[in-house]
Amino acid sequence: MKVSKKVTGVEYAIRDIVLAAKKVEQKGMKVDYLNIGDPVQFGFQPPDNVKQALIDAVNKGENYYSASEGLLELREEIAKKENAKGLSISAEEILVTNGVSEGLDMVISSIIEEGDEVLLPGPSYPPYASYVRLHGGVPVEFAVDLNNSTPDIDDIKSKITSKTVAICLISPNNPTGVVFNENSLKELVELANQHNLYIICDEIYDQIIFDEKFVGIGKVAGDSPVIVLNGFSKVHLMSGWRIGYIAFNQSPQLEAIREHLPKLARVRIATSLPVQYAALESLRGPQDYISHFVTEIKKHRDLVIKRLNEMPGISCPNPNGAFYAFPKIEDNRFGTDKEFVTKLLETKGVLTVHGSGFGKQYGSGHFRLVYLPSLEILDSAMNKIEDFVS
Ligand SMILES: Cc1ncc(COP(=O)(O)O)c(C=O)c1O
Repeated sequence: MKVSKKVTGVEYAIRDIVLAAKKVEQKGMKVDYLNIGDPVQFGFQPPDNVKQALIDAVNKGENYYSASEGLLELREEIAKKENAKGLSISAEEILVTNGVSEGLDMVISSIIEEGDEVLLPGPSYPPYASYVRLHGGVPVEFAVDLNNSTPDIDDIKSKITSKTVAICLISPNNPTGVVFNENSLKELVELANQHNLYIICDEIYDQIIFDEKFVGIGKVAGDSPVIVLNGFSKVHLMSGWRIGYIAFNQSPQLEAIREHLPKLARVRIATSLPVQYAALESLRGPQDYISHFVTEIKKHRDLVIKRLNEMPGISCPNPNGAFYAFPKIEDNRFGTDKEFVTKLLETKGVLTVHGSGFGKQYGSGHFRLVYLPSLEILDSAMNKIEDFVS
């Protein structure tokens, strides 16, 4: 029977590539998985008090449908977190979702009509382009200077048309680790305001920062139509529990979406209530597990970036946040980035993701690797990649 054209176009390179790895494993080769940005799969667990909060909620009988918008106490705590980053909102402006993924789907489906264009940083996390396409829109990539961590404002200006409805920012970015500074964020907000665009900003890696301080979009938002997406999968090590949120800035331009988007929350009923109690504990309890995690993976970043830049034909800027390296393949001995990644997998058993999976225009000619595995595994994977490119 037929399926919709919309669904056939959906791609998610990070997981699609795993099928190729399984085949390599079936042939008896061991595979190092450097493809998936999930800290919990690499041994970083949520702290015991957070696990206990989940267990306690279940044992106390909190096993029913929660309010669609989410638990009030959690929304209050989330508002505090976002206000500390610069917004000025209350629990009313928070909607709890099944991860940023669901929040993104809700936001995009609420604002896109057939043919509408959405500006995305090039390269960017694949679901942004996928959801825009799924809802009938057109993703338009804009250039980012990966060495200076700055968006190319002139490029963005040249790509704004009468069909552009929104600009998405991801800071720190997946796959590049680029973190936009305050000045860049200010320029982007001004530009969006001039053209009446929604500003959707994904800050899921907001506390995974290494060198320079993080500045959230909230700091420069004023009363602009800013929608922040955030969640508990990365910083709070709760990826498998599926929880995130949408934070709406206090902006008159967001009145219509504030009225209508919550209907999408009601039709999907609610997010898991025990998990919401765990998320509450992760915000209220001791926060030192986050700095331990970041201190550890900073060592991983330093090793991987140094090793990559020592390899012939490879260069890689130093990422300031998240847990990804996005090296450039400097010569064309290897064919396309997808061929590079496939050959690296088949000959050395190292699974990375082709850069074009994060946007063809700016992602091609690169590959992404996750530096969450132990230093030992990373060092051995770097040896294999070095061998391969040599
Ligand atoms: C930028 C970005 N946003 C969202 C997500 C997914 O978030 P969640 O687990 O909350 O759905 C990821 C996961 O890799 C990501 O990199």
